[in-house]
Amino acid sequence: DKQLQIAIDGPAAAGKSTAAKIVAARLSYIYIDTGAMYRAITYKALQHNINVEDGKALGRLLADTDISLEQGENGQIVRMDGIDVTEAIRTDRVTNNVSAVARHSEVRRDMTIRQQELAARGGVVMDGRDIGTSVLPKADVKIFLLAGVDERAKRRHAENLKKGFSSDLENLKREIAARDKMDTERVESPLKKAADAIEIDTTFMSIEQVAAAIMAVAEARK
Ligand code: C5P
Repeated sequence: DKQLQIAIDGPAAAGKSTAAKIVAARLSYIYIDTGAMYRAITYKALQHNINVEDGKALGRLLADTDISLEQGENGQIVRMDGIDVTEAIRTDRVTNNVSAVARHSEVRRDMTIRQQELAARGGVVMDGRDIGTSVLPKADVKIFLLAGVDERAKRRHAENLKKGFSSDLENLKREIAARDKMDTERVESPLKKAADAIEIDTTFMSIEQVAAAIMAVAEARK
């Protein structure tokens, strides 16, 4: 079998990571959550009181930062300079600052190189915003997942409650919409469907249906 590169892009909370993890497990591929990498550098920048508008300072910080993704028994473990930041990168503070950090060319250029190196091993499912357009323009499979903002906020809300986190639906809606706007409007590798990506609107689909749809495309390309 050919070892595929599968790129999954789309707006916040569209179900990318859930679908990507299922597909990676079924194909025995590695899964790479590029959003977690942007979150890790955002977390470090906030810790070091670096201004999220200062691209040069963020670029210097990133050059000096080790970010690793590892498949643990209970999902992916994210390490920043050797420290487990898997949970720390999911706080509201990081979520509300990550798009400002991810906007800078100094940050994106460095991340893109790291992500291309991770994907070079082949047999990879990578999710993010610019994988099909910029990181892996030659990916064998490109998927663009979307869903209405109300539905995405509802899903994230249910997820939060299930985890025992406090959650406010209206806040989530605003946060998701604000992040999508920044990610879509930035100059450097904005969130955009690649011309050759297959678009899947997941609004009325179950996660199993989404995974099956992506698997069908992947099987056909092997
Ligand atoms: O996927 P997740 O929601 O964790 O991504 C967090 C943020 O990281 C996005 O809102 C976006 O600003 C940034 N990001 C990006 N490019 C990627 C992945 C994530 O700019 N490939």
